[in-house]
Amino acid sequence: MTTIKHLFDNNKQWAAKVAEQDPEFFKGLSEQQSPKYLWIGCSDSRVPANELLGMQPGEVFVHRNIANQVIHTDLNCLSVIQYAVDVLKVQHIIVCGHYGCGGVAASLDDNSHGLIDNWLRHIEDVHRYHKEKMDKETDEKARINLLCELNVIEQVANVCNTTTLLNAWERKQDITVHGLVYNLHDGILKDLNVSASNKV
Ligand code: CO
Repeated sequence: MTTIKHLFDNNKQWAAKVAEQDPEFFKGLSEQQSPKYLWIGCSDSRVPANELLGMQPGEVFVHRNIANQVIHTDLNCLSVIQYAVDVLKVQHIIVCGHYGCGGVAASLDDNSHGLIDNWLRHIEDVHRYHKEKMDKETDEKARINLLCELNVIEQVANVCNTTTLLNAWERKQDITVHGLVYNLHDGILKDLNVSASNKV
């Protein structure tokens, strides 16, 4: 059996380094978390929320799934949103996709991928809603990237339509939902300019 001993070694080194830079760091973190941001992103290992935002542990509440989707019946994601809004009182919810997303690409091909095809069906729906726009784009990579953007825009709308957000806005809670796409090639985030701070 191969072990993960090296991960424990890495962890000890990391904890020691953090404590050296700020001796009170873990004490503060263990007492409370008060992140201002909820990040809803792709599970892709190349898109780590904290790192690419330049944020420390404690600064961003994170939910990730394949192709950064917000499904109306996904209790996991909906519970994260509710906790973030009602308890943590985050001020911003960021839905972040990334160009070249494997989940989005898989939704466009005709192959069978097993169970995950059910999850990706929602992206096929996004494709269908925007069929005219998608059909105009013929380059395969560009089609994937366009659908990555359209998917984020759709998921922003889904966040805005959750009971949690509708109720929060009803009681005038200050919270804005944003749609971004991350570029793996240069590490830069693009704002899709679909931010919403009230019912859409
Ligand atoms: Co992805």
